[in-house]
Amino acid sequence: MQTKADIYILAIESSCDDTSAAVCKNGIVLSNISADQKIHAEYGGVVPELASRAHTANIVPVVDTALKRAGVDVKDINVIAYTRGPGLLGSLLVGAGFAKGLAQALNIPLIDVHHMKAHVMAHFISDPKPQFPFLCLTVSGGHTQIVKVTDYNVMEVLGTTIDDAAGEAFDKTAKMLGLPYPGGPLIDRYASEGNPLAFKFNEPNIQGLDFSFSGLKTSVLYFLKEKISDNPRFIEENINDLCASVQYTIVKILLKKLKKAAHETGINEIAIAGGVSANHGLRNALSEMAKKEKWNVYIPEFQYCTDNAGMIAISGYYKYIQGDLGSLHLPTVARWAMGD
Ligand code: KG4
Ligand code: ZN
Repeated sequence: MQTKADIYILAIESSCDDTSAAVCKNGIVLSNISADQKIHAEYGGVVPELASRAHTANIVPVVDTALKRAGVDVKDINVIAYTRGPGLLGSLLVGAGFAKGLAQALNIPLIDVHHMKAHVMAHFISDPKPQFPFLCLTVSGGHTQIVKVTDYNVMEVLGTTIDDAAGEAFDKTAKMLGLPYPGGPLIDRYASEGNPLAFKFNEPNIQGLDFSFSGLKTSVLYFLKEKISDNPRFIEENINDLCASVQYTIVKILLKKLKKAAHETGINEIAIAGGVSANHGLRNALSEMAKKEKWNVYIPEFQYCTDNAGMIAISGYYKYIQGDLGSLHLPTVARWAMGD
């Protein structure tokens, strides 16, 4: 039953290759529905034009299913939240156009949400929730950041990648190993059967809290070239060990900087977010480090790690209760700094 004070939010996420919709009531996510786009696998990466077209085909059924699953009528929705950026412009425009049209038709407020902040805000969907201030390592296909979070939606980037994102490092090395896109989950799967110390790959030597993954990529490329010239079946004979060693190196690079950030800030509330936070190697190594460093660690439920509208709904909820409303006139933005 809806009472006058209930806040029902319909949230839309379409920044990359997942079309997602969620319904949340008073900060509780009731449904979170996503349609992914298999079409990109045959191209080895996301094709922006195809992503936009698939969003256009998927958005109405996805929203419809999210409302039905939540048991909420569209007329009961009193706020719409959507991803304004950063992301692929054509993809964002589909979600933004839909959200604006519906907000206008229902004559209700529209809230613009920052996609990377939303990955962090996914920690406020379910318990246990981190205490402020906390650090969040956000690792996705497009971003790798260590963020200091001082309040809902208030974040400062302490470190970022100077080249590839962690997810790209997984996907690009997976491609070299002949695995289809997105390779991250496959590396994770093969790695569970392999020896992480079988092969050694380059680790960057970057000052401060920034990351770099291009050296690792080159190191894997030259290593494979040399090995394949001796044995053309080298990859298939060693796929588990190769995946375990690549994963081990990426996780080591990430956790070295996270530990440095925790020491420098004196913060021991530590969270991870983004698609790569689904990685078992990262989760296990983080739990080990947490025991040694006496950290409280927070890892979102799997459905809220990768791109999803649940995280947009929760970001929108906290913006709404703080009176931070958007406008129908805001343009979508492919790039959007965290502090803006
Ligand atoms: O957050 P996300 O769904 O989308 C972006 O905003 O980019 O992250 C997608 C990235 C891809 O690079 C994918 O390979 C990676 O997350 N990923 C993983 C795993 N699951 C997803 N990487 C490693 N291990 C996983 N289990
Ligand atoms: Zn994302």
